[in-house]
This record gives sequence, structure tokens and C-alpha cells, in this order.
Amino acid sequence: MATVLAIETSCDETAVAIVKNRHILSSVVSSQIAIHQQYGGVVPEVASRQHVEIVNQAIDQCLTESGLDWSEIDGIAGTCTPGLVGALLVGLTAAKTLSIVHDKPFIGVHHLEGHIYASYLSDPDLEPPFLCLLVSGGHTSLIYVKDCGRYEVLGQTRDDAAGEAFDKVARLLKLGYPGGPIIDRLAAEGDPKAFALPEGQISRPEGGFHPYDSSFSGLKTAVLRLTQRLEATGEPLPIADLAASFQATVVRALTKRAIACARDYGLNTIAVGGGVAANRGLREQLQAAAAPYNIKVMFPPMKFCTDNAAMIGCAASEHLDRGHISDLAIAAQSRLPLSEVMSLYRV
Ligand code: KG4
Ligand code: ZN
Repeated sequence: MATVLAIETSCDETAVAIVKNRHILSSVVSSQIAIHQQYGGVVPEVASRQHVEIVNQAIDQCLTESGLDWSEIDGIAGTCTPGLVGALLVGLTAAKTLSIVHDKPFIGVHHLEGHIYASYLSDPDLEPPFLCLLVSGGHTSLIYVKDCGRYEVLGQTRDDAAGEAFDKVARLLKLGYPGGPIIDRLAAEGDPKAFALPEGQISRPEGGFHPYDSSFSGLKTAVLRLTQRLEATGEPLPIADLAASFQATVVRALTKRAIACARDYGLNTIAVGGGVAANRGLREQLQAAAAPYNIKVMFPPMKFCTDNAAMIGCAASEHLDRGHISDLAIAAQSRLPLSEVMSLYRV
């Protein structure tokens, strides 16, 4: 089974890991959150520069911690899509360079396939098919995982991602960045029924609503309007009730869609991934809703939910075992449909 060194720089984490099949030999994650906090969100140019600053030392540290030398590494992987192009370029260029210098195969990895593989890291015995609910700052997707490289996106957000909605609502409530953990904490002290907020639905041309697609931008606007109305009264804002009501609406939307999708497709495992998988409301509600249908819900530990290179290495190791190797000419791309993952390999 292939041992792979993987580099992930698609957004605001500089990460390097060495993975053998579904097991981590070493993993380094350097988060830039503290740097971007002062701007209230990720600034792409600042992210790229920070990756340049630390990627080499992260590679050295990872190799040292693994106790391996280059002769024991079978392949070099780098996230090539989706993400901020300038940020992706840093890790991708480092990975390609190492592959040339050490004469190892290069494996380009789709970031979302990496998030799916995070579930294999937390449960190496997990096998497809299963449903992945991927909820991060950039994505909200329901993915039918059929096999390595074979994915069908059954549902997604039509506008803001779930994490993005948490971040935007936290910003309008002046709570800080990233918003998810702050709202999660406040929601525990508030009443989720204090305010009725609209759960976004996507209409279908033939009538009715799309069962698995979601929309969070209307909800964010509703929180803005409600906040403006409450502020006009001159009373202090009921922040905890607002946070709890907002969070409950997002959780209800995600839970309903994930359960419907798993049942409709006969899938008895839902693996959740991405930063929003840390949300306590989501963890409780999804488990409770799945239990009556005997659907198993997996929430990997936080270190595998948020961006890391171990998940990229885990995906790359399986691709390499199957002979899926990338051309050095593949570019950093801001997006690529998950259904086109296999276009990254020369097979
Ligand atoms: O997966 P991730 O680390 O990065 C992306 O690839 O986007 O996810 C970050 C997102 C942020 O939007 C953050 O607010 C959200 O995950 N998040 C949470 C929680 N912890 C992080 N959202 C809700 N509840 C949380 N406890
Ligand atoms: Zn991510």
C-alpha cells in the first residue's frame, strides 16, 4: 500500500501529511485564522503569501516527525481544485517540484474528495456506498460515494454554504470570525424557538421543491432584517436567542435533506465532514433523526473535519494503489465538479 506525502493549501490552512493507506504517519496543520481574523474573513492574497512563508518548513517538519526518508515515500500529492487559485498554486507547485526532484509519481487531489476520505481516516473499515454530508465554509453537498473517484452530487446549496451562513450571520451580529463556533456556543444558551426564520427552499420548474438542494442566503437576509427591527426598539439584542433560532433553522434544513436523501437512495451510513460537522446542534439532531431509520451517522473528530493534508494523502494513497497518476501539467483550478475527479488522472 502506497505511502504518500500530501500538501494542502487550498484556503487558509497550510498542511502537510504523510499517509499510508488509511493511516496517518505524521500530520502538520498550520492555521492562518489568527491572521485573517483582523479582516473578518479570508483575504486570498494574504493566504497565498502565508503559504509561501511556511510550506517548506511544514514539509520538513512532517518528514522529520514521520521518521521516514524520501526513499520510503511512494508518491507526492497536492490539492489542485477547488479553492483559491493563488493559494492552491503554492502547495501544488511544491508537490510537483518534490515529485520531479525525488522522481516520484505525482497525484493531484480534488479537495472535496479529500473531505470524503477524512471519514476513512476516522474509520478505516468504512466502505462505500455511503452518503457524505459535506458542510464547510465553502461547500454544502450531499454526495453519493460509490467508489474511489466515483461520486454523484445529489444535492447542494444554490447560494451560500452552511459555514458561510454562520460566518455572515456572526459578522452582522458583530460576533467575530469564524462565526460557527461562536454561534454554536451562544446557541446553547438561547431559545431555538424564539424567532421563526425561513428555511430556504429551491423550487423545481415542474412544481414543488428540490428535496436535497438548499439555500441559506434568504435566511441570512431574514436575520439581518430581524436584527434591524430589534435594534430599532432600542433594547439590547437577544443575541443568544437569535443565534439559537438561526442555528436551529440551518440544522433542520441539513438534517431533513440528509435523511431524505439517505432513505431515498437506500444508504444506511451518513458520513459528515467539513467544519460545520463540529456543530453541536447538527450532531444531536442528525443522530436523533437517523436513529429510527437505522441509519448510522459518523462525525469524524474535528481535526479530520476541518482542512488538513491527511485527508488529501488518504485519497491520494488509494488513487496511487489503483495506478491513478496525474500529469505534471494539471493546473490549479478554482472549481471542478466532483463527478469529474477522474479527469485528474492519466488512466
Ligand atoms: O471545513 P472548514 O475548516 O474550511 C473550509 O473548507 O471551508 O470549515 C470552516 C467553516 C467556517 O465557516 C466555520 O464557521 C464553520 O466551519 N464552523 C462551524 C463550527 N466550527 C466551525 N459552524 C458551525 N458550528 C461550529 N461549531
Ligand atoms: Zn475544506
